[in-house]
Amino acid sequence: MHGTYKPLWLTQSGDLEVIDQRYLPHENKTRLLKSGADATEAIADMTVRGAGVIGNVAAFGVYLLAREFGNDTERILQGAQKIRSSRPTAVNLMWAVDRMLEVVRNSTNVVKDTKAEAILICDEDVQRSQMIAKLGCDIIEDIMKKNKLSSFHILTHCNAGWLAIIDDGTALAPIYEAQRRGIDIHVWVDETRPRNQGANLTSWELSQAGINHTVIADNTGGHLMQHKMVDMVITGADRVTACGDAANKIGTYLKALAAKDNDIPFYIALPLSTFDFESCDGIKDIEIEVRSEDEIHMMRGIDTHGQIQEIRITPRNAKGLNYGFDVTPARLITALITEAGVIEPNKEAIMSLI
Ligand code: MRU
Repeated sequence: MHGTYKPLWLTQSGDLEVIDQRYLPHENKTRLLKSGADATEAIADMTVRGAGVIGNVAAFGVYLLAREFGNDTERILQGAQKIRSSRPTAVNLMWAVDRMLEVVRNSTNVVKDTKAEAILICDEDVQRSQMIAKLGCDIIEDIMKKNKLSSFHILTHCNAGWLAIIDDGTALAPIYEAQRRGIDIHVWVDETRPRNQGANLTSWELSQAGINHTVIADNTGGHLMQHKMVDMVITGADRVTACGDAANKIGTYLKALAAKDNDIPFYIALPLSTFDFESCDGIKDIEIEVRSEDEIHMMRGIDTHGQIQEIRITPRNAKGLNYGFDVTPARLITALITEAGVIEPNKEAIMSLI
């Protein structure tokens, strides 16, 4: 149906329904978003997450605001500002809101036009993801040919599949494509502490698709690389600067360092909407989200009786510090896989995209 995508869809009554990612993999729940405030909350509380899907929900959030406030542009702008600041690092959020506000400012039928634009953004993401799948899988085939491999071991961090960007994600898109092409592929899935997006979400996605994978503790990747058990590393990104520095889930930088030290290709897959063309030095310029220390102290899971439990793993008075992202400098990145082509992570190549 028009406006229907795997992680989110419009209902008959025009609300937005989303998979509530906080409950995966043990419970399948959805959440109905009926207003701009609902969209803001769903992004802030991680009901939805992943740069692309955050942008999609933000876009539909502006449509929900238009439905609430009609021709009262001022109130739509105020609500959109709240959506725009619901999380700081993923630039797709700001990109999507700004694109929607262009429509609000120029429209004579704001409800119809914002709905159409939000659907268009999602439809474009489907195309972007398909292109990234193809170009990324061509790289997998090239490496296999060059190294005479009959099977391929790829390591990924966090979740950059269809829960994070429709339709097959970014980093996982070439993996889904490899499965379609009949390649014998195996994925090392970093658990991705503290929220465990790898263990909870990537592993769930790959299980659903029947893709061979193994969840590993975040600290394991370097050891695997030293023992030639990884042929390629691929992750998504939340913001990539015009000079090619990439912000992604905390811990990505350490994987890039280990990959460099072991001569293993390290790729970032991203749509053009993840570039921040205004910034260059990612370490200085990108705002890194600092999240609640509760995510360090607490773990959620299912016990041996099948009951969902939340438990504390640190002493009651321990302090925690929880940075959500880190920046991988361009010098550690082999190439950027975008829908417009595979490019070197440098200013000349990136600016040529626009
Ligand atoms: O905090 P999250 O779960 O929103 O972080 C998500 C990631 O870091 C993904 O790797 C990133 O968004 C790229 S996928 C589009």
